[in-house]
Amino acid sequence: MEFKAIIDAKVRNDAGCAVVGVYEDGDLGIAAGRIDKQLDGLIGKLRGDGDFSAKLGEILLLPTPAGTAAARVLLIGLGTHSSFARKQYRKALAAAAQALAKTGAGDAIVYLALEGVADLDVQYRARAVAEIFCAQLYKIPDLKTSAKPKAPRVTSVSVAAADARGEKAAAEGLAIGAAVGSGLALMRDLANLPPNVCTPTYLGTRAQGLAKDFPSIKTKVFDEKAIKALKMGAFLAVTQGSDQPPRLIVCEYRGGKKSEAPICLVGKGITFDSGGISLKDPPAMDEMKFDMSGGAAVLGAMRTVAELELPINLVAIVPTCENMPSSGAVKPADIVTTMSGQTVEILNTDAEGRLILCDAITYSRRFKPAAVIDVATLTGACIIALGNHFSGLMSNNEALADELEAAGVRADDRAWRLPIGEEYVDQLKSNFADIANVGGREGGACTAASFLSKFAKDLQWAHLDTAGTAWLSGAQKGSTGRPVPLLVDFLINRARAT
Ligand code: BES
Ligand code: MN
Ligand code: ZN
Repeated sequence: MEFKAIIDAKVRNDAGCAVVGVYEDGDLGIAAGRIDKQLDGLIGKLRGDGDFSAKLGEILLLPTPAGTAAARVLLIGLGTHSSFARKQYRKALAAAAQALAKTGAGDAIVYLALEGVADLDVQYRARAVAEIFCAQLYKIPDLKTSAKPKAPRVTSVSVAAADARGEKAAAEGLAIGAAVGSGLALMRDLANLPPNVCTPTYLGTRAQGLAKDFPSIKTKVFDEKAIKALKMGAFLAVTQGSDQPPRLIVCEYRGGKKSEAPICLVGKGITFDSGGISLKDPPAMDEMKFDMSGGAAVLGAMRTVAELELPINLVAIVPTCENMPSSGAVKPADIVTTMSGQTVEILNTDAEGRLILCDAITYSRRFKPAAVIDVATLTGACIIALGNHFSGLMSNNEALADELEAAGVRADDRAWRLPIGEEYVDQLKSNFADIANVGGREGGACTAASFLSKFAKDLQWAHLDTAGTAWLSGAQKGSTGRPVPLLVDFLINRARAT
């Protein structure tokens, strides 16, 4: 999909589709009002007669007489003027993208970014168009052998801006939105693949592919022998029950000054979590193919940053393996020595995410990072706490937590702060090792994060628990791409600050 910014006044009638927003009350909307005149008041009449009430997300496709506005006019309900804000704007765009994909139009001009939206500048408004159109038109790379449903025809989307300044801002926004779209798609592709395809080896190969696509990225993939040499005893304990070899993926992007400390993103890359000897119950076990979503997210964010050539330094670290039961698998009561030197009693082999992450966080220290952010589908308890709407956000640094929270709001990919601390670490007491890997049912998301905090001492560290947000279940089963938008927004803001 190609995105362009144009000045509205230059538009001719030859567009395949004009996508215009209509308010439920008062003025129709900037573009709708204008097109309404060309169509002899048709839009106003439809709204007045109750044929198109313009409720938020409502759509109506108008075939238009030749020589008028465009070959088609797609009306999008914006709801009431007074309630039109970020969420409503984004919802209207999602409805527009879905409806447009069902038309025969090959190209479209989207006029929605002309509407004023509280607190959102033109750049953001255009960025949202590209991001949301990419996300809505995403297709799962499925393995169905039946004839594929027709792909949407639309390949080119122009966003109308009011003037030359707006056109420039819109072009910048579209570039950002399209890059977020491609990072999202990378994450979703990887996470949606079946676990017999998306193995640790496969993820390593895809990370090397990123380095081929972008000279600014250097990828190193460590095998089991190299992971042993690093003394990642906790990571090795998780992988030991599987026939699939583990990988430690490290992608380095250098866009900032050499001397500048990088941001490290660490992503959980369990390509299948059976629970190990502490085997999970069968229902929904298939969804544990998504347990590498954190790893996929940090690779997706890496891709977006490289596409945008952001002036920052970024490192993505993905410890990746399977968690399987076997005669050689790690057992409840086994004690391992982590890369940090701390010993861990593994009381439940299903709490494997924190085991691979603690070693990856320790590994991140060699980059002397400005901040370390880990992303993991870590606990069912986080879903109980926050549902599927917010990612859990824990941090040992107030400023970093605030930055991430704000990024989530801007990107409409929200995270909610949850506590960590000594109280929770106390729940992880072991009589036999420095720390146990589980701390009871109470506050499970907080004990998991507090476990990680023991390995993040003196780092500026934050943790995103995306167990509830990384994928959808049921009829819509599939990766959401979260929290790529949050991460990218955070990184763009860091880049602006330098
Ligand atoms: N990958 C799971 C967490 C998870 C479960 C994410 C369901 C999304 C949906 C993680 O490895 C896990 O099994 N966590 C355990 C921890 C427990 C044993 C302390 C959990 O949440 O049950
Ligand atoms: Mn598990
Ligand atoms: Zn897991």
